[in-house]
Amino acid sequence: MIFVTGGAGFIGANFVLDWLAANQEGVVNLDKLTYAGNLHNLSSLDGDARHVFVQGDIGDTALLGRLLAEHRPRAIVNFAAESHVDRSIHGAEDFIATNVVGTFRLLESVRGYWSALAAAEKAAFRFLHVSTDEVYGSLAPDAPAFTEDHVYEPNSPYSASKAASDHLVRAWHHTHGLPVLTTNCSNNYGPLHFPEKLIPLMIVNALAGKPLPVYGDGQQVRDWLYVSDHCGAIRRVLEAGRVGETYNVGGWNEKANLSIVHTVCDLLDELSPRADGQSYRAQITHVADRPGHDRRYAIDARKIERELGWRPAETFDSGIRKTVAWYLAHPDWVRDVQSGAYREWISAQYAQGGAA
Ligand code: NAD
Ligand code: TYD
Repeated sequence: MIFVTGGAGFIGANFVLDWLAANQEGVVNLDKLTYAGNLHNLSSLDGDARHVFVQGDIGDTALLGRLLAEHRPRAIVNFAAESHVDRSIHGAEDFIATNVVGTFRLLESVRGYWSALAAAEKAAFRFLHVSTDEVYGSLAPDAPAFTEDHVYEPNSPYSASKAASDHLVRAWHHTHGLPVLTTNCSNNYGPLHFPEKLIPLMIVNALAGKPLPVYGDGQQVRDWLYVSDHCGAIRRVLEAGRVGETYNVGGWNEKANLSIVHTVCDLLDELSPRADGQSYRAQITHVADRPGHDRRYAIDARKIERELGWRPAETFDSGIRKTVAWYLAHPDWVRDVQSGAYREWISAQYAQGGAA
């Protein structure tokens, strides 16, 4: 078995679904089900004995001890995190609790379990930590993309908490010998993406006739990675990555935010035109910028290609078309996540007409 944390969130759920579509090996899925965790993401696995879902916290040492002893996984894939930069600006407590303290407790529990394994199992064991390119900070427009050797310069509470977790993972390898792997990926997009992040928010707001809030001048640049490509990269690193190494995972798709929003609008104009015949672009509204907003991220993904033969399969054009089509085909999913905590968050976030 493998043991996945945060497997009811966006990337984790895509990973679990892709894994079980391709493997007979089962998955224990530990997820706290915060606002970002959605069990409907996994409803196609109902009744599938290969998927064991447990609601719980990666910081719950007693629970971790019980689950590891019971299921005896050969690997951990750690997705669980607080993941939204804007939320970390409003309040960082949960980010420190989960991303820093939670990762520490998970590492300690796993170390206890791993230390007691027989020699062959111990050698084959892996702890894969899923992290972000945001730990590297912001790039000048003409600076080379982030390599794995780039200095850590996190600028937001979110990226600082992820940087701290990466350092803990590194230290548990160097000090305790835990066989770790770390992946630092760029902005994911695709099905099941919670509509507080740029792409799904623009799709659902556009369809609801709401403003499309672009922070500042919209010229901030991100690299975009289709989520199933990211899942494939994680499977490959788990299978063949060198212990103790970091792999940057990117889509080779650097885009300015405004151009992303234009693309989303244009696809919606084609696939689900507005009744009044106008373009969805008419709904674009520039709002106050995010405090400390990183100007540019870019990933140099040559190491994972050179060492492990991984390259993304999707272009941005193919991935964004699939993504928009998925949201159009799943209005029930959208309605479901737009209840309760999600609605409260969105009204608090945009009530003042700005990002924070
Ligand atoms: P997400 O917010 O959609 O999902 C996070 C999941 O973790 C949720 O299901 C949530 O319930 C769960 N969780 C939160 N706190 C927990 C805790 N204490 N114990 C157990 N479960 C907990 O996030 P995502 O976009 O799927 O991101 C997954 C991972 O990938 C994160 O570590 C994130 O930092 C990293 N990452 C994401 C992106 C991206 O573009 N989404 C980019 C780079 C890295
Ligand atoms: P986001 O999806 O929150 O990811 P991250 O901050 O981790 O990169 O945001 C992507 C980019 O889009 C980022 O530069 C902020 C910007 N953005 C907006 O302009 N408007 C929005 O409503 C949101 C959510 C993000």
